[in-house]
Amino acid sequence: MTEYIHVSPEDRIEPKNGVIKLHDEAGFEGMRKAGRLAAEILDALAPHVVPGVTTDELDKIVYGMTVDAGAVPATLGYRGYTKSCCTSINHVVCHGIPGEKKLKDGDIVNIDVTPILDGWHGDTSRMYFVGKPSVKAKKLVDITYECLMLGLGQAKPGNRLGDISNAIQTHAESHRYGVVRDFCGHGLGRLFHDSPEVVHAGKAGTGPELKPGMFFTVEPMINIGRPDVKLLDDGWTAVTRDRSLSAQFEHSIGITEDGCEIFTKSPKGLDHPPYDVD
Ligand code: MF3
Ligand code: CO
Ligand code: CO
Repeated sequence: MTEYIHVSPEDRIEPKNGVIKLHDEAGFEGMRKAGRLAAEILDALAPHVVPGVTTDELDKIVYGMTVDAGAVPATLGYRGYTKSCCTSINHVVCHGIPGEKKLKDGDIVNIDVTPILDGWHGDTSRMYFVGKPSVKAKKLVDITYECLMLGLGQAKPGNRLGDISNAIQTHAESHRYGVVRDFCGHGLGRLFHDSPEVVHAGKAGTGPELKPGMFFTVEPMINIGRPDVKLLDDGWTAVTRDRSLSAQFEHSIGITEDGCEIFTKSPKGLDHPPYDVD
């Protein structure tokens, strides 16, 4: 039996304990603001993601915009992580650490940001093309975005979490792509990683029932090859075992009476590449 609990911002912050929180209108307001800031940061990065830029330079832009807005990057100091975003290039599945490495023409890169604004977490990521992508990289990125949006199409009251997972898996596998199993979406709100776990492959009609007020991310990682990942020695960077290209998009959403509200939609319409900003 799934347990649910109604919470409001005035409540003590409940830890992650398997109980799914149902947030009130004040929660939606908080998430709207945090989600919008997160999306604005990703919008602002678009013209900077070009050959020759280092991922550290991108990280500095994320840090600056986050603190200028009165927010804090959730990843900074999170379990020993020391950067304001994750930058996952080519065969990196997720949690790539910004550094001195320069982006080069033809790379695809995911940038994942999570500002905490007034206590609320806005968690979102998009893919960017560095210069001109290969045909197979572009197709992977297109299909991965479609996977996210098809999953979100299932995010409505009465459906179950497995309906989201199944929509993602079905679309990815119809293109013979691999759906990563080792990382999942998550509840969020005043916590960064809360219940439930949102897996990206599964059976329709299974898992917790979706109810208005649930907040969670959907963030499928899709590989051209096998789903298997391995962790590099830095303890963070996850790469595809077969070195195939990987892509990911992430939105933070709230379940409403008749569907879902996407908190992290791009104000500039830059939800997926190419962004044509330069
Ligand atoms: N933003 C990531 C997510 O979608 C989490 C990154 S945690 C970090 O859940 F420490 F690696 F940054
Ligand atoms: Co997330
Ligand atoms: Co994220």
